[in-house]
Amino acid sequence: MARLSARDPKALILAERDGELVGTVIAGFDGWRCSAYRLAVHPDHRRQGIAGLLLEAAERRFRELGGRRVDAMVLEVNERAQRAWEASGYHREDHWRRWVKTL
Ligand SMILES: CC(C)(COP(=O)(O)OP(=O)(O)OC[C@H]1O[C@@H](n2cnc3c(N)ncnc32)[C@H](O)[C@@H]1OP(=O)(O)O)[C@@H](O)C(=O)NCCC(=O)NCCS
Repeated sequence: MARLSARDPKALILAERDGELVGTVIAGFDGWRCSAYRLAVHPDHRRQGIAGLLLEAAERRFRELGGRRVDAMVLEVNERAQRAWEASGYHREDHWRRWVKTL
C-alpha cells in the first residue's frame, strides 16, 4: 500500500459511508493497460450498489487518462464476483490464461 500510494495515489479508490471505509478498488493505469483489481466491499454493506459505484469511479479515472478497455482478473470459483463484474458490463474472455513469474 505504501508503494502504491507513493507511486500513484489516485489509483486507490475508496468508498466511505458516514466516515467508515466500506469498499475499495485499485484503478491502475500504466499508459497502456487499465487494470482494476482488489475490488472489495465490507460484508455489512454488500448488495447496495457500492461495487458498481467503485467500478464507475475507476472507469471515470481510466477515461480521463485516455484508457479504452479495462482488464480484471476474476477467480473461476468466485461466482459472486463474476456476477458483480457482469452487472457492471464486463465479460469473460476464454482465449487467455494468466502467465506469471515470481521475482
Ligand atoms: C463482489 C463484491 C465486491 C460485490 O460488491 P457489492 O457492493 O455487494 O456489489 P453491488 O451491490 O454493486 O452489486 C451489483 C450487482 O452485482 C451482482 N451481485 C453482487 N453480489 C452478488 C451476489 N452475492 N450474488 C449474485 N449477484 C451478485 C448483482 O447483479 C448486483 O445487482 P443487484 O444487487 O441489483 O442484484 C463483494 O461481494 C465482495 O467484496 N466480495 C469479496 C471480495 C471479492 O470477491 N472481490 C472480487 C475480486 S475479483
